[in-house]
Amino acid sequence: MFIDTHAHLQFKSFDEDREMVIQRAIENDVAAMITIGTDLTSSLQAVDLAEKYAAVYAAVGIHPTDCAEVADHDFDRIQELATHPKVVAIGEVGLDYYHMRATREKQKNAFVYQIHMAKELKKPLIIHNRESHQDMYEILAEQNLADLGAVLHSFSGDDAFFRKIMELDLYISFTGNITFKKSTSDQLVVQAPLERLLLETDSPFLTPAPFRGKRNEPAYVVHTARKIADLKEIPVEEVARVTSENAVSFFKLDL
Ligand code: NI
Repeated sequence: MFIDTHAHLQFKSFDEDREMVIQRAIENDVAAMITIGTDLTSSLQAVDLAEKYAAVYAAVGIHPTDCAEVADHDFDRIQELATHPKVVAIGEVGLDYYHMRATREKQKNAFVYQIHMAKELKKPLIIHNRESHQDMYEILAEQNLADLGAVLHSFSGDDAFFRKIMELDLYISFTGNITFKKSTSDQLVVQAPLERLLLETDSPFLTPAPFRGKRNEPAYVVHTARKIADLKEIPVEEVARVTSENAVSFFKLDL
């Protein structure tokens, strides 16, 4: 079985066939999927989906590209939502210096605020990090998140950043982009201990080969798992088993 720890099933591109997408995931041995909020509206929608489908869990949070106009009241609503029994993490939260839709200061404030929220609620963090490695590392090192649990999703970065993240005892996950011909992550995948890895699709984005160019969905997580298995020269069953155990304990899933 596989667990897709990062999808956005509430997004518009699933409006036509959401139920079938979830069904197809289950038929393809995806035992659980976590649908991730990026702002208050999508966090509310994530919780709705988690209520409706047993195999769907939710994460709630304000994404760094959506934090420019956020009111304090929105954070309060996120905090309330996060107490829902099917909300298994705060996320996605973090820093994005590529899109820069909010100032660095605003992004850092929203990120740290939500880290405190996660600590208070004792829920792990799902972290987005794009071209913000230095500030990201400083915040993570200061916050001491190993016991709570934090995953850097769609991991990117050089070898030095990777080693620092491992030293902090955090988790990482790779998306379908590791299956692309021009992927530069092969060495990182080989080095990443299986015990520190989670599987994810980031659906509807970052579709793995051979479906690149189409909409991504949780059923395709097997293609990323297979690529990890190939690079590590181990059976895909082992990738599935260990990453599922990781996800169950990291998110305290009750499957
Ligand atoms: Ni995402």
